[in-house]
Amino acid sequence: MKTFITKQSLAAYLQLIRASGKTIGFVPTMGALHQGHLSLIELARQHNDVVVCSIFVNPTQFNDPKDLEKYPRPIAADTHLLQQAKADILFNPGVKEMYDDNEQWHLNIGELEHLLEGKFRPGHYQGVTQVVYKLFNMVKPDTAFFGQKDYQQFLVISKLVELMNMPVELVMCPIKREDDGLAMSSRNIHLSADEHRHALVLSKTLNWAKANFDGSNFDVLQKEAERMINAEDGVALEYFEIADGGTLHPADAASKKVVALVAAKVGKTRLIDNVLLRS
Ligand code: PAF
Repeated sequence: MKTFITKQSLAAYLQLIRASGKTIGFVPTMGALHQGHLSLIELARQHNDVVVCSIFVNPTQFNDPKDLEKYPRPIAADTHLLQQAKADILFNPGVKEMYDDNEQWHLNIGELEHLLEGKFRPGHYQGVTQVVYKLFNMVKPDTAFFGQKDYQQFLVISKLVELMNMPVELVMCPIKREDDGLAMSSRNIHLSADEHRHALVLSKTLNWAKANFDGSNFDVLQKEAERMINAEDGVALEYFEIADGGTLHPADAASKKVVALVAAKVGKTRLIDNVLLRS
């Protein structure tokens, strides 16, 4: 695996790859890699000739400086995992390589910015679109892979690609879970054993909602799901929403795709998860 830390050296190398007619699959990450990320690398391998993974903890998408500070950065272990997963290229730039001082960015992504995650993490999706726009311009991938766990992020990035007319195909990959059902996340390492146990209420409630969805009982499911999560010790629910899979507004009978999404704090760790009820 080749590692690049400057955009110039990455661009020069990728130009040669493209000139040889090879396709590029891209997996952007913030590191602290787990099986979920590795499944994205695996899918990228299946779709493309060359797989690029980026590791960059993007400061502009953190609205809480403490969250940014404590975000895990195990670069040696990550590099090892990427080698094992047979990624071809790691792009691991520093903040100065990605941002000029006082850089301004605003993209009108409409309501998606303010719904659900957007309400609890103001500015988060502006930071995500800012860095993904830069990364897509640097890597110029044919295909880019993102996890379903960040369902709203996938919709936001789809909007970015549409607005900026970027020639990249986006692929949403299924959520990877621990054996006990907890959605894999780089943040899970912050959970104590007790917190981990309490956090299971999120996937259990989503599974319950899926098993009990009859196509129209949106309100009943939502209320009962909220009750179940609120009854769990140590879990502070932020939202449980049964939403239209395209708009993220509350789902109704006309919604072709329906997704149940949840966000909660377990101790100090914020977790998100979701399940498709109708796809
Ligand atoms: O999903 C993530 O890890 C990040 O939001 C992303 C897409 C790499 C942008 O920093």
